[in-house]
Amino acid sequence: MNRQLHIGKKHPSRQNLAACDFRLAHLFPMTTCVLPAHDASQIALAASEAARLLAKGEIVALPTETVYGLGCDALNPAAVARVFAAKERPSFDPLIVHVEDAEDIHCFTTVRGNVQKLVLRLAENFWPGPLTMVLPASERIPDIVRSGLPTVALRCSAHPVMQAVLKNLGHPIAAPSANRFGRISPVRAEHVVEELEGRIPLVLDGGPCCHGLESTIVAVEAQCLVLLRPGPVTQEQLEQFAPVRRVAVGGAVFAPGMMKSHYAPRTPLYILAVGECLPEDAVRSGLLTFGNEMKGFAEVENLSRHPLEAAPHLFAALRRLDASGVSRIYVHEISESGLGMAIMDRLRRAAHE
Ligand code: TXA
Ligand code: MG
Repeated sequence: MNRQLHIGKKHPSRQNLAACDFRLAHLFPMTTCVLPAHDASQIALAASEAARLLAKGEIVALPTETVYGLGCDALNPAAVARVFAAKERPSFDPLIVHVEDAEDIHCFTTVRGNVQKLVLRLAENFWPGPLTMVLPASERIPDIVRSGLPTVALRCSAHPVMQAVLKNLGHPIAAPSANRFGRISPVRAEHVVEELEGRIPLVLDGGPCCHGLESTIVAVEAQCLVLLRPGPVTQEQLEQFAPVRRVAVGGAVFAPGMMKSHYAPRTPLYILAVGECLPEDAVRSGLLTFGNEMKGFAEVENLSRHPLEAAPHLFAALRRLDASGVSRIYVHEISESGLGMAIMDRLRRAAHE
């Protein structure tokens, strides 16, 4: 019955979506190829093909250690515009720029003095890795990448595929997560295909992403770090270097990705306190839980109670529940210490009002 609700012709939002997909099919009539990039020789081949396309201004999806990104040559404004179009991303939401190493901080930012010292220490400790730093941009970064802001978000990924493509291209790569705007980030190549098939020419398949949550984003200020998005580099780790100030979700839209509704499945999602009684519609609903037992739901995804073990599987579990035809998804809370903060951040943003 619920399945019918999802595919039934009378479901208005589904109809709008289909109409929208039809229009976009005319804008993006292309075949999407998937190239394996699992071992050194596959990576070399795939990276050179990706760089060839990127140098022509095409867009390519590729893995990072956090989630899959939709990459383009960051210094080519027309290529950047293609990324915004393929994702249906509003132009006010800037992209992260991926660089080869910390040397690029000098090329693409104007950071100086004590802030520069702090930035270099953070890079030394967390790069390559899942930390993105928002810094004053140099003129080399086109306006469209940073949505007209005076700053640029820089990240140096540890993934061998991203590193190989960067080396082949010789330019930084602007890459947001490779999902349509507002949806769940892809952590496997097949998720990218689900999201963007027909809109992009190539996906490099480097297997599942090991962190499974988007990078931590900090704005680096003279005396402190402003945590714009919690992620795999935890607040506790950052506090070893400078005091950390957290910006509340739904507050001032300082980082546009801090918008409340983000990372959302199509099925309405509700957060359920552990120990709360069974919701009335449990038999038609799905449950995502972290090591708890709870009977009575139509579908259950039970992840580890340890955030480090749960995080890599979180988005794939949400996608499975979303595709299962349940009418609601309930999610149990997990402790907010360490990586638990990033998990709860994503779940709160995905939650229905
Ligand atoms: O792990 C990640 O960071 C992945 C991989 C592909 O690198 N990328 C990613 O990109 O999550 P995206 O676009 O989905 O999220 C980047 C967030 C957006 O919310 C954007 O608003 C914010 O970074 N951002 C980018 N540039 C910014 C800037 N100059 N100031 C503040 N926020 C910025
Ligand atoms: Mg994203």
